[in-house]
Amino acid sequence: MSFHQGEDISDDIDSILSASVADDDEEEDGYDGYSSRFSLDSVSVSDDVRDYIFENSRRYHKYYDGLYHFPNDDAEQEREDLQHAMVILLCEGKLHFAPLDNPQSVLDIGTGTGIWAIEMGDEYPQADILGIDLSPIQPLWVPRNVQFLVDNVEEEWVQPANSLDYIHSRQMAPSIRDWPTIFSEAYNHFLATSKHGLPVVSPKRALKPGGWIEIQDLKCITRCEDALPADEPCHRFTSTLVQALRGLGIDCIHSIDHYEPWLRAAGFANVQTATLKAPLGTWPDNAHDAKIGLFNRNMIYSGLHAFSIRPFTHGLGWTPEEVEVYLVDVRKSLLTSQARLYFPWVAVWAQKPLEPVVGGEPNAAGPIGVPST
Ligand SMILES: C[S@@+](CC[C@H](N)C(=O)[O-])C[C@H]1O[C@@H](n2cnc3c(N)ncnc32)[C@H](O)[C@@H]1O
Repeated sequence: MSFHQGEDISDDIDSILSASVADDDEEEDGYDGYSSRFSLDSVSVSDDVRDYIFENSRRYHKYYDGLYHFPNDDAEQEREDLQHAMVILLCEGKLHFAPLDNPQSVLDIGTGTGIWAIEMGDEYPQADILGIDLSPIQPLWVPRNVQFLVDNVEEEWVQPANSLDYIHSRQMAPSIRDWPTIFSEAYNHFLATSKHGLPVVSPKRALKPGGWIEIQDLKCITRCEDALPADEPCHRFTSTLVQALRGLGIDCIHSIDHYEPWLRAAGFANVQTATLKAPLGTWPDNAHDAKIGLFNRNMIYSGLHAFSIRPFTHGLGWTPEEVEVYLVDVRKSLLTSQARLYFPWVAVWAQKPLEPVVGGEPNAAGPIGVPST
């Protein structure tokens, strides 16, 4: 496994993909030996975290089987890294929008291949970065300040209260069922007894006063710069995917549209949103946006089977054969469509108030802002 530190991600797709795809043979010992501010020494993981389930030629996580509806195999990991490259281009190289000031402890929930966490480790060498995921697919050779843990972020959190400067979540809208509860102070009241024997805290309590949470997502439904052509296959595909996920109890579009009010209701302050457009295809006039569109189209094209095979069979009751037949037109259209399609992309970031929250609103008398150092 090679690990390329400080790589220019815009150079070419192949170098991006070779940087972080985990080698299955190397996964055995990668989840212990924590040395940092994250005191996880007493957390042990059972063998089933490394087991997999195979279904319709795809590999899925076994730990908390069925929680996440997309594969974790090599093809899907490559797609995730391509998506990372596309998003970083879209964000002009930014790994985050929240105004971080010398962060010491960073948590990435649903870290996937860990590519964001690894690049964060390079950008903030003084910080400890912990990536959590259901799948043990992250590479072993990572910066010294980056660690990975297999765990379920919709279960108990073991991070101590007031310990994190920044919580990051990207592309988790199709995963998390109950965002308001995750954001809420009362999160721990919903949890079973701690399986690790450690105190359970809510994500919000885990943040330091003045710490930031940021949620980034590509809205998984296409929009069009012009009138949407009737029955456009890519748009139809994304609508069907949203419907299939609803059938599995996840309303990702609703969630993305409600991050902001939910964060406010949970008592976060300085809630801000950035909305961008990720073109699908090379239709933009300028080279930069056309490159984003190319990355995006390749990413979606390579991911069509992964996106649909479980959601459409489990959520809509289709047969695997029906899914395969359906995808033929979508693939063709992705390569030939003249429609100026794009995906809305959203980042929402918010700050834990410095003062206690009264009645869901920051204490009027209390200062809100980044603590002075
Ligand atoms: C679409 S991937 C995003 C990966 C990464 N955040 C990125 O942007 O590159 C979603 C990841 O979240 C993980 N995931 C889904 N539900 C989870 C949960 N409840 N706890 C921990 N990880 C979860 C999946 O295993 C998958 O690796």
